[in-house]
Amino acid sequence: MPFRDNTTLAQYLLAESRKNPDIGTDLVALILDASRACKLISKLVAQGALANVLGKAEGVNVQGEEQAKLDVMSDDTFRRSTEFGGHVCAVASEEQDEPVPVPPEYPRGEFLLLYDPLDGSSNIDVNVAVGSIFSVLRMPRPGKEAVAEDFLQPGTRQVAAGYAIYGPSTMLVLTVGNGVAGFTLHPLIGDFVLTHPNITVPAQTQEFAVNASNSRFWEPPVKRYVEECMAGTEGPRGKDFNMRWIASMVAEAHRILMRGGVFMYPRDTKKPLRPGRLRLMYEANPIALIMEQAGAAASTGTERILEVTPSDLHQRIPLIFGSREEVERIEAYHRDSAIPKADTPLFNARGLFRAAL
Ligand code: AHG
Ligand code: MN
Ligand code: MN
Repeated sequence: MPFRDNTTLAQYLLAESRKNPDIGTDLVALILDASRACKLISKLVAQGALANVLGKAEGVNVQGEEQAKLDVMSDDTFRRSTEFGGHVCAVASEEQDEPVPVPPEYPRGEFLLLYDPLDGSSNIDVNVAVGSIFSVLRMPRPGKEAVAEDFLQPGTRQVAAGYAIYGPSTMLVLTVGNGVAGFTLHPLIGDFVLTHPNITVPAQTQEFAVNASNSRFWEPPVKRYVEECMAGTEGPRGKDFNMRWIASMVAEAHRILMRGGVFMYPRDTKKPLRPGRLRLMYEANPIALIMEQAGAAASTGTERILEVTPSDLHQRIPLIFGSREEVERIEAYHRDSAIPKADTPLFNARGLFRAAL
């Protein structure tokens, strides 16, 4: 059944639940609660200095990062907006060391909710787009008190994932496992209205996003990929590329969903003990599910993000996502660089074991 004009998020979810009995009223209500958190955060972000929300908070989060006031306020908003409904058992947040159970006065639900309440914090004070990211998992031990291990499920188990982007307009982009839909916050009626049904990412692109100031720390396959893009029409790719770096992953993901592209925050040697910059559970996994549902791909370079077995709630991971053929190419470069470079014709540039690119 085609969607009518001005289909709201609630109507979209109702329609999806009619198609798929796994999308029950609890999941619908939870997503609506999360969307309400995003509306509230969008208002805080929009008021900026007028609401005294810019600048640093007092604290440091579990990853040793200084918290901005909006990180703390958004974290609070997400938790308060989602704990009342009886759909969630516990939440996990970038800004909380441990999972936070639903307070005893509220009923405990069947879902676990993970979020990065404010992504792109370094952009808050300079009035550049930021966002929120969320992921929904089922509680594997229904009725019990959730502990961190309950959250450590691979991304393939997500039942829903979404993000809000607080840009010139506020949008919510969502998957419940049946493609990706984008909703724009209607400023007059306060509803998220379906404006971008069936978002798909073109398989090819001439645009990449990477923090090039880290280039001396990159692993060889990423260096090779970016060098080839930069070589443009004269290089092996035979075409010019464009580069973007906003430093809000949500904004880069959104641009890629709208017009294609590839995003890389690869493993680097800048902080040797850190396997990547972005966090698996509440950044990489939800964005990876959205990308795959839109026909794009998400990888560590050597492994599909959604199949990574998590070991820690706050673990970091190399993250490469976007237009499928580019992600596959970067994966092929990783395979190629893993081949021993023995001085034998089998392993040289024309040899049998050179990966087909
Ligand atoms: P957060 O604000 O939630 O900590 O995430 C910021 C992330 C991500 O959004 C962005 O892609 C990246 O940090 C930017 O990192 P650099 O400052 O190293 O470019
Ligand atoms: Mn983030
Ligand atoms: Mn954040």
